[in-house]
Amino acid sequence: MGQLLNAADFRHAAQRRLPRGLFEYIDRGAEDELALSNLRRSLDAIRLSPRVLTGHPERDLRVRVMEREIAMPVVVAPTALAGLVAYDGEAKLARAAARQGVPFCISTQSITTIEEVRAGAPDADLWFQLYLWKDRELTRKLLDRVWACNVTTLVVTADTPIGPKREYNQRNGFSIPFIYSLRAALDVAMRPRWLAGVLLRYLHTTGMPTYGHYPEEFRSAITRPSIVEAVKLENLLNWDDLRILRQQWKGRLIVKGILHPQDAREAADLGADGIVISAHGGRNLDIAPVPAEVLPDIADAVGNRLEILADSGVRRGSDVLKYISLGAQAVMLGRLPLWGLAAGDEKGADQMLAMIRTEIDMTLTMLGVRRPEDCRGLPIRSTWI
Ligand SMILES: Cc1cc2nc3c(=O)[nH]c(=O)nc-3n(C[C@H](O)[C@H](O)[C@H](O)COP(=O)(O)O)c2cc1C
Repeated sequence: MGQLLNAADFRHAAQRRLPRGLFEYIDRGAEDELALSNLRRSLDAIRLSPRVLTGHPERDLRVRVMEREIAMPVVVAPTALAGLVAYDGEAKLARAAARQGVPFCISTQSITTIEEVRAGAPDADLWFQLYLWKDRELTRKLLDRVWACNVTTLVVTADTPIGPKREYNQRNGFSIPFIYSLRAALDVAMRPRWLAGVLLRYLHTTGMPTYGHYPEEFRSAITRPSIVEAVKLENLLNWDDLRILRQQWKGRLIVKGILHPQDAREAADLGADGIVISAHGGRNLDIAPVPAEVLPDIADAVGNRLEILADSGVRRGSDVLKYISLGAQAVMLGRLPLWGLAAGDEKGADQMLAMIRTEIDMTLTMLGVRRPEDCRGLPIRSTWI
């Protein structure tokens, strides 16, 4: 792992370790992947003007997010199926995040359940990401389990009313639960280390990996058709649902996937504690604007009413600071921790987060400021927007 010096190195290592279907599921975007390239172009085009001769003895990366102090302005984003990247991957991400002093948000579509992640990472600052299922009673029961695990921050994802169009998943035969195909079997056979270390290990312990939070019937081919409708993503989700959820959930509530100032106001009006300005990593709506375009307006609209997080496209510590300079308090990382996990298991995820920390620290030093939020005062130039 010594030679993994930047995110691109980790990504490359992940590509060599994971079956193609899984790697592409993580790496790629939706439809023509315009959003994916726009994200990079928007971040690359932002330049921050440094101040010189400011002579700070040391930087202070800590920020307050959701009433807690975290070690740097980073949260590990919810990513479905992280447990396929490494055996027990979600618990490993939770421990790596805890070691680096940042929260880890577990996805509704994780392999490992929230109870198992909590047991494997008792000290982690765990958040839970919710996809509302069509069956509200099942959703409510899931939230009771989350609360019982001492998880008080709920992230409701609002930007995924249906499963997006990602043609490569179909071509690769990548689906959950797994459907056997010759192509998928050959793909897995080409990665014996992953086969032995992840898939066979699950098969020997808990069985064929699938979404851990989904009802047991979801796993069985015979009962599956009856349960599939109940746990479908709710495409009729609306602000009234969110108001009900706000009443039900006693902890902190964050709405993820906001790109419009009016939606940010709605979230603030119903009493959300935060929003994530997100293009879902370019994985959902291919014609969506990028967070860098909309962040300043949204920060103007609601910055004094709730906390603003941002994500999508971050590959360097300096990208984190770019989103902060535009008005975010902290930034979620999706693919980066997964590449770390794929490249070097728990240590790899740890190393990836530590690397981002170092990059943030170095960039702050170069910029001549002490704290991430000081980037907000720096003149920004962007040739893209
Ligand atoms: C493999 C993968 C799975 C994801 N699954 C979820 C999910 O279950 N729920 C969710 O809200 N966002 C999900 N996301 C989106 C991330 O939370 C985040 O918004 C996005 O990855 C940020 O972009 P980045 O990967 O460029 O950092 C997923 C992203 C990836 C890469």
